[in-house]
Amino acid sequence: MNINNIKKINIYKKKILIRLDLNVPMNKNKITSYERINSSLKTIKFALKNKSKIIILSHLGRPTEGLFEKKYSLLPIVNYLKQKFPNVIIHFKKNINKKYKINYGEILIFENVRFNIGEKNNDKILSKKYASLCEVFIIDAFGTAHRKEASTYGVGIFSKISCAGFLFMSEIKSLKKCIKNPKLPLVTILGGSKISTKFNILKKLCKISDTVIVGGGIANTFLAIKNNIGKSIYEENFINLAKKLKKKYNIIIPIDSKVKQTNIKKIKYIIKKSSEIKNNEEIMDIGTQSIKKIKKIIKKAKTIIWNGPVGVFESKEFRNGTKKIAYAISNNKNSFSIAGGGDTLAVIEMFNIKNNISYISTGGGAFLEFIEGKKLPVIKMLKKKYIKK
Ligand code: 3PG
Repeated sequence: MNINNIKKINIYKKKILIRLDLNVPMNKNKITSYERINSSLKTIKFALKNKSKIIILSHLGRPTEGLFEKKYSLLPIVNYLKQKFPNVIIHFKKNINKKYKINYGEILIFENVRFNIGEKNNDKILSKKYASLCEVFIIDAFGTAHRKEASTYGVGIFSKISCAGFLFMSEIKSLKKCIKNPKLPLVTILGGSKISTKFNILKKLCKISDTVIVGGGIANTFLAIKNNIGKSIYEENFINLAKKLKKKYNIIIPIDSKVKQTNIKKIKYIIKKSSEIKNNEEIMDIGTQSIKKIKKIIKKAKTIIWNGPVGVFESKEFRNGTKKIAYAISNNKNSFSIAGGGDTLAVIEMFNIKNNISYISTGGGAFLEFIEGKKLPVIKMLKKKYIKK
């Protein structure tokens, strides 16, 4: 891909602006997963080694522009970075319009970019303001590659030199490995509740995969082609599209399911054939026969793409299917496996299998859109800024 790689750009003693994706999950102002911050450290360390004057930007959540809200403040993240770099001076400032003195080898982190008016709309003035802060702009926020915003796109356009950081480069390399020339068979697992939000990616995955295993509400829509699925979530207006896909591609749908039975007196959970579901039953997870079948398929895979749980994994009664699939992927040591998307990362953390997945993408929407083959705005920007040497 013709984009500038941080490794090839001189940042020694330069003023650099790094856009990171430090949008980490939080609970009561406490960080609950450090994954995205830790993945960003390589680029920061490289900049420190190069004695650059480092300015860092990131978003956190989706606050209202122009309105400061403590729960969206980057302060907890700044404090974590201070622990990671105890010998480095780290300044934390709110006002992007004020001038601050910063020395070589120091870091200045600005408050959440989404507090700045014009950020979301890729405002020209704000983009130019960001660009004026640096000699080199480094985008390492792969998770925002699908966002055309002032701190992701506009700033890159207006900066003299724009390049991709280490995380961004490795995301592209790993995702391409899966979709360009994957080792076959390529098996995809696509879970999640709504087929409508993932239909385009499902189509794309069907085209490149030998087998696509569907789970959750997505699978229910496939099951609904021929079966009564009782009270289970599904999307009726996607049944015909699902039918067409099923005819053309090798799509595995659950042969049995764990259902919640709602009777007047009590709630019961049982496993039954997917073809025998009654009106008062709701599919919550895949069943044991489906797990057996899916495990066999995963065992033979040489490349695995995984996005989304196959059941309501948040409740312990319905997490067996997702758990067994997670273990099957992590046990297949002969494959290159890639996982991405919000819930998938939560599953990986829950079952502690991080070290057995070949690559875990930090992207949610960006991960899906990249695989889908969409032209991501940040990549477009980087291509425009490519310096041929
Ligand atoms: C993500 O969490 O997928 C990225 O940080 C992008 O966040 P956004 O969807 O709020 O733009």
